Amino acid sequence: MQITFSAAALPKTGAIVIPIFEDGGKPKAYEELDKATDGALERAVKTSAFKAKKGKILEIAAPAGVGASRIVLIGAGPSKGFDRLAAEALGGAAAGHLLKGRDKSATFALNGLTVKKLANDEFAARIATGAKMKSYRFDKYRTKEDKDDKPVLAKITVQTSASKAKELFAVYDAVNDGVFLTRDLVSEPANILYPESFAKRCQELSKLGVKVKVLGEAEMKKLGMGSLLGVGQGSVRETKLVAMEWTGGKKGEAPVAFVGKGVTFDTGGISLKPAPNMDEMKWDMGGAGAVTGAMAAIAGRKAKANVIGVVALVENMPDGAAQRPGDVVTSMSGQTIEVLNTDAEGRLALADALWWAQETYKPKAVIDLATLTGAIIIALAHEFAGCFTTDDKLAKQLDAAGETSGDKIWRMPLTKAHDEMIKSDIADMQNIGGKGGGSSSAAAFLGRFIQDGVSWAHLDIAGMAWNPKDNATCPKGASGFGVRLLDEYVRVNWEN
Ligand code: BES
Ligand code: MN
Ligand code: ZN
Repeated sequence: MQITFSAAALPKTGAIVIPIFEDGGKPKAYEELDKATDGALERAVKTSAFKAKKGKILEIAAPAGVGASRIVLIGAGPSKGFDRLAAEALGGAAAGHLLKGRDKSATFALNGLTVKKLANDEFAARIATGAKMKSYRFDKYRTKEDKDDKPVLAKITVQTSASKAKELFAVYDAVNDGVFLTRDLVSEPANILYPESFAKRCQELSKLGVKVKVLGEAEMKKLGMGSLLGVGQGSVRETKLVAMEWTGGKKGEAPVAFVGKGVTFDTGGISLKPAPNMDEMKWDMGGAGAVTGAMAAIAGRKAKANVIGVVALVENMPDGAAQRPGDVVTSMSGQTIEVLNTDAEGRLALADALWWAQETYKPKAVIDLATLTGAIIIALAHEFAGCFTTDDKLAKQLDAAGETSGDKIWRMPLTKAHDEMIKSDIADMQNIGGKGGGSSSAAAFLGRFIQDGVSWAHLDIAGMAWNPKDNATCPKGASGFGVRLLDEYVRVNWEN
């Protein structure tokens, strides 16, 4: 979808979108159009139940005197507290409606509409961002879709006199590109996206100036990554470890590292998962998807920070060569792990990825993202990712980034008691805890692979990588969760 900004008069074609606040705020175009149509807008509003509630729409089809195809009045809710996320939701709701129609173009009339919390430039750019986010579609495998079901909206013009909106949008759109990349990766089925093909997608980031390194099994074996390699042992696909380096900050300054779980399919291994909904485990690479998308966003907008993205790409399959429950593996850190359940594989993959990232890049902070436990969905549903850290400052920073970006997180407990849950009888640790607190014992496991002095947080995004239903800025399916969160965290804490 193409998005442009223009201060010019309203066009004579396409749809015209007019946001209206519950407390009366309207763009100038409302009155203009009402006059031109002999009061058609006022009449329509008066005789309908339209009260400008958030996201509510009143559509008026091509009244005489207007060149446009239709006028779409959209409720913006109360103007008080209307912020960045509200503007994005407004743009998304409008786009969602337009995409179901047959207009090829639409104009959002914003001239004369102002809100307290947002400058006019920001207001316009955020509405455009929301519209773009909502326009995402993964339809590459639909060869027979009815052409009436395929959206035709190709262009949105944002009518605004705010001169910096375009500039701002260019930056936000780089982040959108990252979100779309993550959604693409997460949507792909596992016969198409497996460790090697995922690594190839990472390599494409080199056109944004990202340096990409790919390690294969031979190299990982030399490095002693028995934990990550054990997970892929039953798969015919070669396990890969990818590092993406963005050096937009000061030369030699220690970076922040993002580490993602990239299990391209999780059958559970020999501890096989039940059949119902196993297909969902194609998105068990959501953490790696988010890290890759975040790297694209950060490089795409040329962030002034040094950021490393590391993804552990592996397929968890049952097979004659697969690892068995009870096997003991030795991780790159030297610590041994008793694998009591081969379905607790994400932490095994991350153990070596985390260690390698710290050994290689000496980061000041490490944040890992993983669709790690079903238990986090029990606790937080599809509302928040779980945030596990013993670093209060980092927790605050991530909370704040979640609030502004809309990728919401909720801090969960991580204590000594959780660490004690993974004591093993024969090795340094086991890969599952006891009954209860499964997300926290998983986090405690990861904590064993964090070096002294490194500030670290683990985000369990199992409930967030996939949207079970549409929302204001995202269709049902892959959400791209984490990209905006990490981008915002970098912008606020690592730049300038
Ligand atoms: N990938 C799953 C976690 C998951 C489950 C993500 C459902 C999204 C939806 C993970 O590898 C897993 O299987 N975790 C186990 C851990 C258990 C064996 C300790 C789980 O949560 O059941
Ligand atoms: Mn699993
Ligand atoms: Zn998994």
